[in-house]
Order: sequence, then structure tokens, then C-alpha cells
Amino acid sequence: MAESTKSATLTVGDKTVELPIFTPTSGPDVIDIRKLYSQAGVFTYDPGFTSTASCDSTITFIDGDEGILTHRGYAIGELAEKSHYLEVCFLLLYGELPSPKQLEEFEDLVTNHTMLHEQMMNFFRGFRRDAHPMAVMVGVVGAMSAFYHDSTDINDPHQRDVASIRLIAKMPTIAAMAYKYTIGQPFVYPRNDLDYASNFLRMCFAVPAEDYVVDPILSRAMDRIFTLHADHEQNASTSTVRLASSSGANPFACIAAGIACLWGPAHGGANQACLEMLKEIGTPDRIPEFIARAKDKNDPFRLMGFGHRVYKNRDPRATVMKQSADEVLELLGVDNNPILQVAKELEKQALADPYFAEKKLFPNVDFYSGIILEAMGFPTSMFTPIFALARTVGWISQWEEQLNDPQLKIGRPRQLYQGEDVRPYVDIENR
Ligand code: SDX
Repeated sequence: MAESTKSATLTVGDKTVELPIFTPTSGPDVIDIRKLYSQAGVFTYDPGFTSTASCDSTITFIDGDEGILTHRGYAIGELAEKSHYLEVCFLLLYGELPSPKQLEEFEDLVTNHTMLHEQMMNFFRGFRRDAHPMAVMVGVVGAMSAFYHDSTDINDPHQRDVASIRLIAKMPTIAAMAYKYTIGQPFVYPRNDLDYASNFLRMCFAVPAEDYVVDPILSRAMDRIFTLHADHEQNASTSTVRLASSSGANPFACIAAGIACLWGPAHGGANQACLEMLKEIGTPDRIPEFIARAKDKNDPFRLMGFGHRVYKNRDPRATVMKQSADEVLELLGVDNNPILQVAKELEKQALADPYFAEKKLFPNVDFYSGIILEAMGFPTSMFTPIFALARTVGWISQWEEQLNDPQLKIGRPRQLYQGEDVRPYVDIENR
């Protein structure tokens, strides 16, 4: 914990309290209000936590005004260009870039834990074929608590490490199986001779009837999409994982809770919602109609893939994703993709509109990812499962950090109660 060298003075009625101020490595100063209620008898009020630091962390930093995202100090643009997903996983989990030997050992460890307990296949078969893959992932990951008892004791560092590797290694297998199940195709088992992204593509798109050769351009694009989604500070799903973990819940239950939260269209579900919106717009001439709806206070419609709680400048991930979209679609020979044209024209018109400029609404990570994923052959229902797959390492890294925090307490916010005061029960005959 940083040392406090200054304080804030707060006077509430006849009480004056001194609140320590902590200065972080980067970002705004933080006022420590932990003793506020005991010393001043008041709560703070911050629905949505727009001004609240829920923890101290050393993993990821975002500067929303400058459009900066770093993982353990390394800028996302450099990691996307020069690193790869499993190396970023090592960095997030252990804090430093791996040596060549460490990287080889880590990749071998993940590669050799990609298979699922064979009995879990029966679990998959309990779902309707038209189940959304996210429903399957929430269920199957939660059920891992029932199949991997030997890595559920959160007080045992070795079991925590085993659970971490199992989750990172098995999420692509689970996501691919969720996809295969919903399209009625047989499961494709992972292969140890393929890299992480290539394995995932093969498990999704191979069929027993013919060989499947992974396109290295697509696997590089897939790996980059994983990297861009790996972690993102205390977003809604990560905060969900931390809150679930604060009660002592096992790692699989905590990650299942994170998947459930990510599913929402305001969060990780936005990539699916964004592509569906672009398809609904259909042609550039309909863009003004949708921009008008997004600006209309009486219309709940929002431009999916636009805006962000923290970024009030460009989301650096969206910048990389847009470059990747151009590359992948050109290589796939679909760079005249009408959806991509609508997306580019929508971005241009929205950013030229005072409403979006004033409210600092820019395309976020979800704006272009769906275009790439669709071009790669994924249905929109698989977009958020891919986000969940990639974000698992971020959830796990934050989960591990919290369990090592000596200040760890069960998360238990209070409220501003505006309900009825105490009143006597009224018997039914008197109502
Ligand atoms: C992700 O937190 C993370 O880090 C998340 C994430 C991660 O990696 O984990 O980055 C991933 O979830 C990205 C966000 C994906 N969601 C979407 O693209 C859905 C569309 N975006 C909006 O729902 C919204 O922008 C949020 C939810 C992303 C952010 O919401 P905020 O910060 O609560 O913003 P707000 O609702 O307070 O909006 C501020 C103003 C409002 O207008 P006023 O009330 O001030 O008049 O901007 C408007 C909003 O109406 N606004 C939009 C808009 N987003 C905000 N208007 C039109 N279209 C939009 N997309």
C-alpha cells in the first residue's frame, strides 16, 4: 500500500475528520474513507462507482483522458504488436515478461491442460441445442467446481495456481464446445501441436469429415483479439469476480460470476449487439436515422460499441482492432464488406457530431471486434464467449491479487435508504 503524505479535511456537522490521501504510480490521488463512518457517522454515495477506487492494484492501468492502457506497465499497442496472448497471460499473472525458458514452460503447462474431464460432455448435452453459448459457458465453468475439487481450496497457493492454469487452458475448449454443441456438430478435441489461438480456431471450425488447416493470418488475428481483451482494471465483470471471491467462493464459481456479468450488452455483450446494430443499419444512408435515435433522450437506443465509463478519448484497443479489421478483411478478400463500410461511415459521422464530441463518446473495443470475428466465420452469438475466453486471465490475475491482499475483507457496500420508516403490521382483515 502506498504511503500517505497528505490528507483531506472533511467537516460534517460538528465533526471534522482527517482523511489520508494516497498518491498512486499513475492516475488521480485517492482519499481513504475507510474510517469515515466510524469517525463521522456518514456514508459516501456513488452508484456505479464513478468516483470510487475499490482496491489497490498493480496489474492494469487506464488513463481515460489520454487513451492509455498498460498491463504491468507495458502499453497495449506494443503488446498487441510485439507479444502474444500466452506471454501476456504470464505477464498479467506473474508481473514480469517471461524469460525464454519461463515462456516455454508456461506454454507447455497450458497446452497440456486443454482437455476437459470427459464426463463434462454429458453436462453439455443437458442444454437445448438453441442455448446461447454464453449460457453454456456460465453453466459449464460453474460446474468445473464439481469436476475439479482438487483445485478449489483458495487458501492453498498450489491449488490456486492449478485452478488458474486449468481455467486459462480449458476456456477455449469450453467455448469451442459450446459453439459446436449449438450447431449440432461433434466436439473437436484440442491438439498439443497447435498454439493457443490455432487450437481454438481448429476446435471451432474443424469437422471429422476433412482435415482443417489453420490459416496463420487468422490465428495471428485471433491471438491479437485475445490480447486486446485480456484485462481492463476494475470493470464490471472483474469487480464481480472480486466481490464473489471476497466471500471465499471457489475460483470456478467466481469466474462463472464474471462470465454472467460480462454477458450484458452494456459490457461484453456489446460486441454482439454492435454487429447486430450495424446489420440493422444495413446501408450508410440509414446512419443519420440511427445517430438521431442515439441522441434522443426519449429513445433508449444507444450506439453499441460507442462510449466508455473510463475512456473519454479513443480506446487504444479500438485503434488496434480497426487496423486488424482492415488487414484481416483485405486478406480474406472481403475488404469491401458492406458492414465494415457502414462501421467506418458511422464512426466518421458520429465523431463529427457535436453530441458525441461533447460527451466524449468514441468507438470502444467492441466496435470493430465483431466485424473481424464475423469475417473469420463466427456467428454473433460467439462474440461474447470469445471475450470471456480472453478475459479469463484478467479475472484470474485480479482474483489472485485480491487473495494476496492483507486488507482483504468481504465486500459489503451500504446504501442510501429511502424506504418506509418502521411501522406496525396490519392484519389482513384491517387492510
Ligand atoms: C466494455 O468498463 C470496462 O472497462 C468495460 C470494457 C472492458 O474491457 O471490460 O472496456 C468492455 O464493456 C466496453 C463498453 C461496451 N458497451 C457498449 O458499447 C454499449 C454502449 N455504450 C454505453 O452503454 C455506455 O457508453 C457505457 C455503458 C459503455 C458507459 O456508460 P457510462 O459511463 O455509465 O456512461 P453514461 O451512461 O453515464 O453516459 C454518459 C452520457 C449519457 O448522456 P447524458 O445522460 O449525460 O445526457 O453519454 C450518453 C448517455 O446517454 N451515452 C451514449 C452512449 N454512451 C453514453 N449515447 C449514445 N450512444 C452511446 N453509446
